[in-house]
Amino acid sequence: MARKSNSKSENKKIAVFDDPAKMIEAFVQLWIGRARKALIDRGNFSAALSGGKTPGPFYHALSTAVTETIWQNSHLYMVDERHVPHSHADSNWGMIQREIIRNVSISEGNLHPVPFAKTAEESAVQYEKELRRFFGRSCKFPAIDFLVMGLGPDGHTASLFPGSPALYEKVRWSVASRPETAPHSRITLTFPVIQNAAEVVYIIKGKDKAVRVKEILVDGNEYLPATRAQSRDGKTIYLLDQDAAGLLEL
Ligand code: 6PG
Repeated sequence: MARKSNSKSENKKIAVFDDPAKMIEAFVQLWIGRARKALIDRGNFSAALSGGKTPGPFYHALSTAVTETIWQNSHLYMVDERHVPHSHADSNWGMIQREIIRNVSISEGNLHPVPFAKTAEESAVQYEKELRRFFGRSCKFPAIDFLVMGLGPDGHTASLFPGSPALYEKVRWSVASRPETAPHSRITLTFPVIQNAAEVVYIIKGKDKAVRVKEILVDGNEYLPATRAQSRDGKTIYLLDQDAAGLLEL
């Protein structure tokens, strides 16, 4: 059962779930709803996915619930990636291949992983070129339809970590970051790209996230990167389990 709360504005919604299956179903319906709108508006749908441990079952549910027509007109990007080969156990793209790509009919030309180059910086440069190939070299920032975000226990999201120089990037679409509190150098979308998305959907589970969820959604603590990683003109939706929402008064 979800308890919903429209906090502050229509563009920011919080939904709390005590049933994991209903949380996954809500995510799937958000994806399908935005995809259908994008296909009607433009004939294609762009989604950028985060990694980590939480989203796997949510992505797997997409692979059985979303129609072939939507998949064939969808383009999959990455919100962030670890600087490892896609075959590495810690690769976010590797997880997405296992949970979605090998289970659905989507053409290679619609798949846009972060390239694994010699350095994380070179990967970020190549990834931005790939993004510009699809969204256009002249546009200031890409308008990605649907972003899937997670939340780290330190308040990071994507691979935008507290105190990182990547937080101050105002021009580039993707940059390298070197977290002190997590493994691997990273490649991440920047705040301007995240803020330009039509829909940003957070999937947050676990007691270890509860304090940060309160600091972000109630206190608006700007020191935490996730507080700034919201859609500027579109929707930002927080799907929380009971544990992650434990300090919210809904
Ligand atoms: C990554 C993710 C990262 C993740 C958070 C939460 O590459 O690790 O993109 O931003 O969303 O760290 O991770 P969990 O879902 O594993 O808690």
